[in-house]
Amino acid sequence: MTESAPSLISIEEAKALYPEAGGAHGFSHVLRVLRLTERIGQAEGADMLVLRTACLLHDIGRPAEAAAGVCHAQWGAERARQLLAGHPPELVEAVAHAIAAHRFRNDVEPRTLEAKVLSDADKLDALGAVGVARAYAMAGERGSDLWVPMDAARQGDAGGKEHTPVHEFLYKLSRLPEHLYTPTARRMAEHRLRFMQVFFEELEAEMLGER
Ligand SMILES: [Fe+2]
Repeated sequence: MTESAPSLISIEEAKALYPEAGGAHGFSHVLRVLRLTERIGQAEGADMLVLRTACLLHDIGRPAEAAAGVCHAQWGAERARQLLAGHPPELVEAVAHAIAAHRFRNDVEPRTLEAKVLSDADKLDALGAVGVARAYAMAGERGSDLWVPMDAARQGDAGGKEHTPVHEFLYKLSRLPEHLYTPTARRMAEHRLRFMQVFFEELEAEMLGER
């Protein structure tokens, strides 16, 4: 990804829209998803102008969601329409749709290839070594434990402080590949999920003093 790659908004302009640099959803997440959209979008033949622009703007609604409980995907799509006013309306609408449909837990189904690729890339960033790192960053924010035995976690997920990265893996992350749309992302997810499985098995063995 270079600065000259086509997008309706520059990386610098996009960066200014994200108050957080790091964390699970800050601008470093956006840049990781951008690299994934490059790879998946090119393999799948997506419109890279729409895809890159949507990617750079996809989480601008996170602060509004945290502060006011709005859906960050819907809010971000509306804000993107305002920010991109003056560009061809069909491009702006394609970007807005991809942003509105990228969220795991809302009812806007991706209708376009670009929306499917963005949704896939966003989910892939929660898997693999990056996924483990993000799960622990979030556990640190909540002040939850590093580990519970897998069997105990399988009994149920109480949420809050009791929600450990083991719960996150069993109840959410291991199921993400079922929600992927493109063959390229499904292949990448298989590899990332295998790594996570090994990581959590290794963690369990070490925690039990077996290794
Ligand atoms: Fe995201």
